[in-house]
Amino acid sequence: MPRNIVVTGSGSGIGAALTTLLRAQGDRVIGVDLRGGEIDADLSTPDGRAAAAVAAAEAAGGVVDAVVTCAGVSVPGKAMVTVNYFGTTEFVTALRPALAAAPRPRVVLIGSISGTQPADPDVVAACLAEDEDKALTYAERAIADGRARKLYPSSKSALAQWARRTAVAAGWADAGIPVNVVAPGIVLTPMSADIFDDPEMKKVMDTAVPMPLNGYSQPEDIARAVLFLASDDNSHITGQVLYVDGGAEATLRGPEDF
Ligand SMILES: NC(=O)c1ccc[n+]([C@@H]2O[C@H](COP(=O)([O-])OP(=O)(O)OC[C@H]3O[C@@H](n4cnc5c(N)ncnc54)[C@H](O)[C@@H]3O)[C@@H](O)[C@H]2O)c1
Repeated sequence: MPRNIVVTGSGSGIGAALTTLLRAQGDRVIGVDLRGGEIDADLSTPDGRAAAAVAAAEAAGGVVDAVVTCAGVSVPGKAMVTVNYFGTTEFVTALRPALAAAPRPRVVLIGSISGTQPADPDVVAACLAEDEDKALTYAERAIADGRARKLYPSSKSALAQWARRTAVAAGWADAGIPVNVVAPGIVLTPMSADIFDDPEMKKVMDTAVPMPLNGYSQPEDIARAVLFLASDDNSHITGQVLYVDGGAEATLRGPEDF
């Protein structure tokens, strides 16, 4: 039986690579993206997220076997809050009933090594309190104070914490729904292309994200890890952040932090 897999950000980079691999193994992908997917949606707004979830559940006949959230942005701004965090958490939460209807449902979120880097604690706390207005107010303050660079790490840190909390909350693990995060280092996609146009930026990124194992990754390298976590073979892994980062996290945090 082909599984119904909902993939956000299916039109580019990691989401597009994953869509190709899933279709190649016979799964049915319901792609959600700004344009060009099965469902065109703007996940930056509450209405856009809600409508996308309704449309995705409907397209799947009410039974969603897996949700993988790849939609995201990296240019510092309010979208760190509206797309990276709430565009993921509210979308996944809205699909919980359709996931619970599947025999072996799975959820995988795309985080980032950046989630381990210095964040804005107020933005993170407001996200985790599910208060989007407050998170946006703190994000605006960070932008005005010249701390906009902390917003991407903030969104990915909050996302990883949300996943760990949600994974073991009522209605998820106890309903057979594992929730995990795949956290890449630097992946060669349109999102990271700007880094390579600017030698100074490349130097900064190589220091911030050292990848001694095989260097920068391709989107397929990330997609293959997602495939496992989203598969039937993942029976007992939940609430985990899997760093697919060429050794960056182990290099930066050292052996004690795991
Ligand atoms: N590329 C990297 O180096 C890297 C590293 C770590 C984490 N990530 C994360 O991986 C995920 C995928 O990134 P990518 O590199 O494939 O980027 P990408 O830019 O190639 O793809 C992102 C996709 O998200 C979609 N999207 C953006 N805003 C949206 C919105 N409001 N509503 C619906 N869809 C929207 C885009 O249209 C695009 O198709 C992101 O969450 C990103 O933060 C990427």
